[in-house]
Amino acid sequence: MLTLGINCLLHDTAIALVHDGRLVAAVEEERFTRVKHQAGLFNGGGMPLNSLRWILSNYGAYPQDIDRFCYAGAVDLYPSFLKAQVETLRRHAKELDSGMERSLFLDHHYCHAVSAFAGSGFERALIVTVDGEGDAVSIMLAAVGPEGIKPILRLPPSSSLGHLYTKVTRAMGFLAYGDEGKVMALAEHSERSSFDQWGTPVVVDSETGLVEVDWQAVRLLCSEACDVNSAFDRQVELAGALQNTLEHALCQLVLFGIARTGLAKVCLAGGVALNCCANRAISLLPEVEALFVPFCAGDQGTAIGAALLGDALYCATMHGHSYNSPYLGPSYSQDECRQELQSSGISYVQPEQPEQLAARLILDNMVVGWLSGRAEFGPRALGARSIFAASHLPGISDRLNCQVKHRATWRPFAPMVLEFDGHTLFEEPCQNPYMTSTAKVSPKARHLLSQTISARSTSRLQTVMPEKLPDVACILEEIRRETGAGTLLNTSFNDAGEPMVLSPRDALRTFFSTGLDHLFLSGLWVAKRDAK
Ligand SMILES: [Fe+2]
Repeated sequence: MLTLGINCLLHDTAIALVHDGRLVAAVEEERFTRVKHQAGLFNGGGMPLNSLRWILSNYGAYPQDIDRFCYAGAVDLYPSFLKAQVETLRRHAKELDSGMERSLFLDHHYCHAVSAFAGSGFERALIVTVDGEGDAVSIMLAAVGPEGIKPILRLPPSSSLGHLYTKVTRAMGFLAYGDEGKVMALAEHSERSSFDQWGTPVVVDSETGLVEVDWQAVRLLCSEACDVNSAFDRQVELAGALQNTLEHALCQLVLFGIARTGLAKVCLAGGVALNCCANRAISLLPEVEALFVPFCAGDQGTAIGAALLGDALYCATMHGHSYNSPYLGPSYSQDECRQELQSSGISYVQPEQPEQLAARLILDNMVVGWLSGRAEFGPRALGARSIFAASHLPGISDRLNCQVKHRATWRPFAPMVLEFDGHTLFEEPCQNPYMTSTAKVSPKARHLLSQTISARSTSRLQTVMPEKLPDVACILEEIRRETGAGTLLNTSFNDAGEPMVLSPRDALRTFFSTGLDHLFLSGLWVAKRDAK
């Protein structure tokens, strides 16, 4: 059975395909349109038709071959001013459906919940979904197992921790629904003072789980916010206080959920689960036996959740509905890359061992663009569309920020490490293949990770297992031979404000418009000095 999951209402529009319970493909529309966080129908955007076309052609399927079209969003709930957009969606669904009644409209937070549970490997789990809002809900706690989803708490938008964080993000002059990670990064520069001077904006009732947000206190907080460049220290302090509040509230919610369900394995999803520092705080709670956060915690993940949930509803069980890889998008063969280079008149070399060559260049203080295999789904570059540099060479992070990513120098970078080196590099358990949490760097590893470490001595790491990402593991092994540990600086392959590159053409454009030194396209090597 083929089931299509579609996120097309708010932002980060995306399509996913599930074949007999197994996730086989997923892609975000922004990668085709080159508009970050591509808006959906309710925000002035459209259906993710580029994604739909790619998924169908990649799988050799036609709309009539699809058994179910599962949309993330219970559209009947939406208010009348969105009527035109809902009608557009219904019309589109009808066209695809061909009158066969294969369309399902599924609850937004249920879709988030399944997007996390299906990747966790847990038999049962407490699911906590937290976002701005979706289908008039901002927080859901549920017990999930093979039999399905049993919600224990669903809170309205007035309790929204996502809206709280977004309001402050916007007040600081950043982009709402996209730049929240910058505020989190600022908070990593702070001492994390309490929120006392701005009141107590969030209270979580430990008996009922209800979340009360004092929006008056939030307004006061926002009135203190301003452009970070004009008052850096003050904004850092404010970001730290906001982050403290969020972490405290989320921990309280998780503890309530564990006490209520008896489930100590926890999955998080929703846009707020992209907050890696909060995820670390939750994972360190003694009551939490294990924490799983998917690579697609934001709204793009509801496409995956919708497809898996739609399929599970048909089968009347969640059992067997799973995924274990984020590499779900388009790939480009070496021949396709060669064709692109030749048609653009760009000189290239086909090295015998591209991974070893990339490692040598990185150790020589070069910045390397890397396109290999199927594109990763979700907001993090996980080694398929990445920029690599040395994690230990002084000055490289400043150079990357100024000349490649064109962004503020306080923005941090993240390391990739071989999984078996993790325990010597970090003081905490750090199995983190999807870069969803931070971990404390051990003092003796500070020099190896000096370019990827926050002021609070944490790093948002990605752990690499050779069987999951063999080519990048090969680069890390080569670096390990020289430095004693397999570490890299890894950042998304894009320029400021752009989505990650998808195709060789995107990669070449970014290569020539930024300070990247070298580029590898499916094993073909382009050096900037020789390129023309
Ligand atoms: Fe959401």
